[in-house]
Amino acid sequence: MKIFIDTANLEQIKEVDSWGILDGVTTNPSLVAKETGDFKTNIRKICEVVGGPVSVEAMSTKAEEIHKEAKELAKIHTNVVIKIPMTEEGIKATSMLSKEGVKVNMTLIFSANQALLAAKAGAAYVSPFVGRLDDVGQDGMDLVSEILDILDNYGYPTEVIVASVRHPIHVSQAARMGAHVATIPYDVLKKMFKHPLTDIGINRFQKDWENVAKR
Ligand code: E4P
Repeated sequence: MKIFIDTANLEQIKEVDSWGILDGVTTNPSLVAKETGDFKTNIRKICEVVGGPVSVEAMSTKAEEIHKEAKELAKIHTNVVIKIPMTEEGIKATSMLSKEGVKVNMTLIFSANQALLAAKAGAAYVSPFVGRLDDVGQDGMDLVSEILDILDNYGYPTEVIVASVRHPIHVSQAARMGAHVATIPYDVLKKMFKHPLTDIGINRFQKDWENVAKR
């Protein structure tokens, strides 16, 4: 499974990239708003650090305008993938862009049919938001499973990005289901290292080794 980080923070991206496990980045308007400085410059810097796809959201709402904005965003760097929210206008823009070879990540996916439409429009990625579904009492990971089945039935090349990840269980569930990608916040990535028995084990080995070293 590919691991993306869900952030627009360059320091977090650099740190996770240094672990050697990072495949890409997703940003969104709320994440971008947390950072200072020029938006396009920040995205370019992120692209220069990460040797993989970097999703950047188009904010226009009409297909022609989304298309125009996407073309501008795509000029920032060859790794830029255009995030487009799931609407009729977004689907129109996705169809146009995918025919022109511009990669689209269709975002704010909350149903299997939305994902089906995105795949048919040629989206390179679909992003079901599992945490936000959990928040309203629907199992977000069930949706991921439905989408994977549908894409598999027809051999769509669209990849599923498990998004709105809130905890490490979402990540392991995504991997068990065979999701193509999980985009994970920095704090959840850090939690993935941790198990109390690992820490206890390291302490015990360190202590025992001190006795060996004393000999
Ligand atoms: C995905 O690409 C989005 O940026 C993100 O996962 C949204 O998650 P949230 O529900 O934590 O805002």
